[in-house]
Amino acid sequence: MAKGPYNEIVMDHFMNPRNVGEIEDANAVGEAGSGQCGDSMTLYLKIEDDKIQDAKFMTFGCGAAIASSSMMTELLKGRSIDDALNLTNSEVLKALGGLPEAKIHCSIMAEEAVRSAIEDYRKRKGV
Ligand code: FES
Repeated sequence: MAKGPYNEIVMDHFMNPRNVGEIEDANAVGEAGSGQCGDSMTLYLKIEDDKIQDAKFMTFGCGAAIASSSMMTELLKGRSIDDALNLTNSEVLKALGGLPEAKIHCSIMAEEAVRSAIEDYRKRKGV
């Protein structure tokens, strides 16, 4: 394969993204957007007993944003909400084996979507 800007893990998550879609009975929804490029992402979580049972996403964005969202949902499943808040863009980057410098903000958008979803969850619970 020709050497592009993305490594094989990123290409795999870009071409075959995991967990794309909406969760109808999601009890947490997060939104994030990048002012830099106008791309945006919505994250749906199904949380039970403060544990993330399921995570899905819809992303209108570049390949790196889709790969970051895909990896982020994989990393979120099974985590407690406190642990989910520890999910940073560096962890997503590391799991993806890195992104080109100009694409780091795409992974930051994933981190922001997680924070936004957990905030929504807490608001709904009245915490
Ligand atoms: Fe903006 Fe990737 S999310 S270029």
